[in-house]
Amino acid sequence: MGTSTRYITTPIYYVNDRPHIGHVYTTTICDAWARFQRLSGHDVFFLTGTDEHGQKVEQSAEARGVSPQELADENSEEFRRIMGMFNLTNDEFIRTTDPRHEQQVQSLVKRLMDSGDVYLGTFEGWYDAGQEEYYTDTKANEVEFVSPISGKPLERASEQNYYFKLSAYEDRLRKMFDDHPGIVRPDARRNEVLGRLREGLQDVPISRTNFAWGIGVPGADEHVIYVWIDALFNYITALGLADSESQWHAQRAGYWPAGMQVIGKEILWFHAVIWPALLMALELPLPSCIYAHSFWISEGQKMSKSLGNFIDLEELQGYMEKYGSDALRYFLCTQGPLGATDADFSRSQFHETYTTDLVNTVGNCASRTSAMIGKYCDGLCPADTGECADGGVDWSDFTSAQVEAAIDSMERFDLSGSIAAAMTIVRRVDAFINETAPFKLAKDPEMAAQVGDILYRCAEAIRIASCLLEATMPEKILELRDAWNLGAPTGDLRGECQWGRLAAGTAIEKVALFPRVESE
Ligand code: MSP
Repeated sequence: MGTSTRYITTPIYYVNDRPHIGHVYTTTICDAWARFQRLSGHDVFFLTGTDEHGQKVEQSAEARGVSPQELADENSEEFRRIMGMFNLTNDEFIRTTDPRHEQQVQSLVKRLMDSGDVYLGTFEGWYDAGQEEYYTDTKANEVEFVSPISGKPLERASEQNYYFKLSAYEDRLRKMFDDHPGIVRPDARRNEVLGRLREGLQDVPISRTNFAWGIGVPGADEHVIYVWIDALFNYITALGLADSESQWHAQRAGYWPAGMQVIGKEILWFHAVIWPALLMALELPLPSCIYAHSFWISEGQKMSKSLGNFIDLEELQGYMEKYGSDALRYFLCTQGPLGATDADFSRSQFHETYTTDLVNTVGNCASRTSAMIGKYCDGLCPADTGECADGGVDWSDFTSAQVEAAIDSMERFDLSGSIAAAMTIVRRVDAFINETAPFKLAKDPEMAAQVGDILYRCAEAIRIASCLLEATMPEKILELRDAWNLGAPTGDLRGECQWGRLAAGTAIEKVALFPRVESE
């Protein structure tokens, strides 16, 4: 990712589900990344949205006695509401029922038909009419050719479908993984895909005829384009890539290829295999990285409809009211399932993270430092006269190493690593205050210059850490910027993080960023 445009996407969410922590999580981590890139001066495009077609939506709508479009409108709005609720700064919210998307999907499929990558084929199998489902020969044999659900015999049936020639891309996909090992991350997920690739690839049906709620195959309206193909294309239709006359194209086409496409691990196959193959067939460049995170579980248990234990928006709002929106963001970004293992969302863990990291570390350090500057320096940032003992730390070297680590980690989508580098600075400040005890030195008027030097170092290091934490906790860091007169971000994160930028004489007001919260 050498260029200055950065395109990041979330999956688009199904409108037949209620939004819950999973959706908020993926969108929040993408938001933190997008904000960080903007703070670094990059031209960012951050996309999210809703996936609105398919049989399930049609069925849910029917069950509720509304049209699929009505159901989609209503539920898409619920997802859109998340963005405001959780301070998310997506640049577009795409809906797959938007005619601008639908038309482009048709023209993309048309291109694939013209190139021979999509063809009309016949499928034959054992059909369970009650379930509208085909069984493979092996499975049909296992159930002795009788539907285990209705008890009626399976029928030999065939149907015509459009197919995508996935099998033709096997070698190129393998080469893609050889040439760009970082294209699917984390490593555990890439290895999973490679394992399945070794089993060989078959062409995939990309149309359905047994329901109507979807985008028609061009020239064959009785066929509806498979919802996954429709949905995957959102990543390029939102940029107008298949409509060169459109405004979307004029303003956004330059964002492709995406720098970061974030998904949950359950939709890896579609994104790591089918998506790149479709792009290859369309002769479009591939994204730099598809990042598949793991899952949140709730208080030690898998979240499921039957258990009814999804952490829903109401519950998340409860956390925000109690701890603040930045605290929720911090928890999601640092304790979440970003790597290859699932993470547990528990009340006690949330409370502990908040208290340890935000109240006792960031909050305490900023409030101690600003209180002492108030008391010993008339509330004005002291000058650094170079008199104080550094406590063995070359602050400039130390902070710049952490700044590089934070930027580097973010580049790799290692959010918690990036935040940890910033927290290392804050923790060092805390230890430095304890070691040098400026509150004791201040009792001796002769030590005024030393006290000033110590406090300058503390304030400057906190300022630098805050620049690195801003993408994760935008509201609180803004509060700090205001109280310490640090001005607005400049779009040059690295430059802003240079040691010595904090000017002597700057008015530093006392801050209390993270109030202590009683546990239940
Ligand atoms: N519509 C498809 C995606 C199409 S993308 C071209 C879909 N939608 S979904 O509504 O089911 O959302 C799935 C996504 O929600 C996951 O990939 C993940 O980003 C997020 N999560 C859903 N449950 C989750 C957890 N329990 N934990 C973390 N995130 C999970 O699949």
